[in-house]
Amino acid sequence: MTTIIRRIAEWNTVAAGLPAGHVLGLVPTMGALHDGHGALLEEARRRCSVVAASIFVNPLQFNQASDFDLYPRTLAEDLAFCEARGVDYVFAPSVSDLYPHPQHVFVEVEGLSEHLCGRYRPGHFRGVATVVLKLFHILRPAYAFFGEKDYQQLAIVRRLVRDLNMALEVVGVPTMREADGLAMSSRNRRLNQRERSLAARLYGALIVARDAIVCGETSPAAVKRQAEMVLLDVPEIRLEYFDLVDPETLTPVDVIDRPVRAAAAMWVGATRLIDNIACVPPQ
Ligand code: PAJ
Repeated sequence: MTTIIRRIAEWNTVAAGLPAGHVLGLVPTMGALHDGHGALLEEARRRCSVVAASIFVNPLQFNQASDFDLYPRTLAEDLAFCEARGVDYVFAPSVSDLYPHPQHVFVEVEGLSEHLCGRYRPGHFRGVATVVLKLFHILRPAYAFFGEKDYQQLAIVRRLVRDLNMALEVVGVPTMREADGLAMSSRNRRLNQRERSLAARLYGALIVARDAIVCGETSPAAVKRQAEMVLLDVPEIRLEYFDLVDPETLTPVDVIDRPVRAAAAMWVGATRLIDNIACVPPQ
């Protein structure tokens, strides 16, 4: 039975009554839950005695007010989704509960936030890091689960926890995909039929890059050229970036002589999609 908690004070009462020795796992989300979120919840259920999901569309991390307004909000379905996966608590605070006064304290994770999406979404990762830190402080989980789909976000949260000496373990969970390879995302539901059929090309481009690297290509520019071929002939697609980066620092590499992460963002019509993949060169 999933219990919904709408206020921070309510959670404090619940937390005080949790059994001694419990292990709390938290899955932070913005709702509109799909099987990608489901994989995180299932991993949390395997590892933890108490599982909480948070559902909060965080205004601080949106670059455009319209994107925030348009973000799907499906709380009733999300609760049923959590119930079916054995989630104990859903923490779904209001904006005014989480940000009762104008926020004056923000968390900046330097370096990692400047690459990849950080170049195109100013302030986004500051908003993510700030809300994640708040959620960690409020809910006090022992484990927190994040998807590799948002690889940069995962790296940033790991650094946040390490640099602020927080007593919790961050667990990364592999990306869940549709049958054609498209990474599951709440934003996919904005795609029309034609856009949806084009969207899987992002993963196709990543696979081209990975295969080129597996076959011994060491030049990032050459890998990128091959990957971009998959995307070039379609007017609806606009590639924002396609980068080959160090998996830890997220800095673009000059030569591919060790494992790298290929990460990309593209627009299909009015929808922005991101994805990434691990690439390992031959020994
Ligand atoms: P949201 O986009 O709802 O994603 C919540 C979590 O689900 C993230 O850790 C994300 O990486 C993971 N996820 C999304 N799609 C996935 C997929 N296809 N496979 C595996 N995991 C997937 O990310 C956010 O919300 C917010 O930025 C948040 C961390 C909640 C802070 O507001």
